Amino acid sequence: MKNVAVILAGGTGERFGEATPKQFIILHGRRVIDYSISMFNQHKHIDDIIITCPLGWIDIIQNEYPNCKVVLGGKTRKDSSYNGLLACPKGTKNVLIHDAARPFIDKDIISRCLFALKSNKAIDTVISSGDTIVEAKDNVITNMPIRDNMFLGQTPQAFDYPTIINAHKSFKGDTTDDIRIVKDQGVKCSTIEGSVYNFKLTNQPDVYLAERISQIQSQKNNVIPNFKDKDVLVFGGTGGIGSGIGTLLTNLGAKVKCIGSEVDLRLDKLPKSFNNNKYDIIIHSAGIFRMKSLNESTINDWDEMFNVNLRSSFLVSKLAMHTLNNPGWLIYIGSSSSNRGRANQAIYASSKAGLNNLTQSLSAELQPHGIRVNCINPPRTNTPMREKAFPNEDKSLLANPLDVAKDILQYCYGDETGHIVNLKYSNQENAKR
Ligand code: CTP
Ligand code: MG
Repeated sequence: MKNVAVILAGGTGERFGEATPKQFIILHGRRVIDYSISMFNQHKHIDDIIITCPLGWIDIIQNEYPNCKVVLGGKTRKDSSYNGLLACPKGTKNVLIHDAARPFIDKDIISRCLFALKSNKAIDTVISSGDTIVEAKDNVITNMPIRDNMFLGQTPQAFDYPTIINAHKSFKGDTTDDIRIVKDQGVKCSTIEGSVYNFKLTNQPDVYLAERISQIQSQKNNVIPNFKDKDVLVFGGTGGIGSGIGTLLTNLGAKVKCIGSEVDLRLDKLPKSFNNNKYDIIIHSAGIFRMKSLNESTINDWDEMFNVNLRSSFLVSKLAMHTLNNPGWLIYIGSSSSNRGRANQAIYASSKAGLNNLTQSLSAELQPHGIRVNCINPPRTNTPMREKAFPNEDKSLLANPLDVAKDILQYCYGDETGHIVNLKYSNQENAKR
């Protein structure tokens, strides 16, 4: 008695308007469809996964997911769904039909669908509607249902397998979802709660939202992978957050080289000797900070802060490109000030804002080399640099460098790339920004 997921990826994404169908575009290093495949793959009560694809994608996806069955999609969503249902294995009891264009399905939604199927034959995943829903025709309102009774339909739509396949066989016409097919045949359809994150990429602006959600969800529940014997190079590794990362990774068995003031990051070149090694992870955690008003600041301050904070990041990226293994991880340590420039920190904040865009550009460019590039923006942290700049501030409102280092490790493995991660800790809710 099997629970099967059917992931629909057979569309061309007309409204999205790109040559690559939206379910195959890259979001932080992974295709949109990869997110939902991995969620169903990880769920312990899903036995099989069927994926419907356009012709040109079948082999690509099948090779990457040998444990899934990839079949040809149809002309309409309904046809793709039917093809997926026909491909379900013998013994299929329940089926969850999901849009590949909804990457942020979570395991609780899958569990809720499966649980509801114990006492129902058809389940729709819905969220309540924040806005009043108005039915109109030719610009004239024909109906205004009570908002509390209105919901927005998502996927998965989950069914008792014989119920949905028989309904498909006898349904004439088209529909944008499967629940209507069984509802029109008089089957009682129940709802379970979806999530606002489980939205569907439909138009171009949805990508911004998807990137943001992917970033929020990227923190990986503090799973620490095996760093044993990994070669790690840390610039700015002799103080503050950099040395915290060095200590943690060394304790986890990595071979860590921490670089401090012996290498002058204001210069035009990094020492050639760095080129003689291969690394798995390179971290740039070096930075200088000077609290100065615009009036007090000189062009030398600008050059010095930019050289260490941003220009040396460029040199380190070049080094990374030639010396990182595949896969490899390049991590920049930015600052919360990159999102919001503050008075008397114009130079520092500008240099750190540059790191965010450097990360985004390089993540796209270095992906073919297997290099993941992420930038972590820690909040105000109890480091020697901070102590020097703000000797009298309340330390209880600062983050602990080891906590920050632990969170940074979450980005030193895995496939994700191009993340700009803004860390925050509970003791900082009321801190002055
Ligand atoms: N879908 C499918 N086969 C089709 C059409 C759609 O498998 N012939 C899938 C899409 O790939 C998507 C989901 O159904 O994952 C939801 O459909 P929709 O958002 O409408 O995607 P598209 O049909 O691709 O987009 P558009 O309607 O803008 O062309
Ligand atoms: Mg469509």
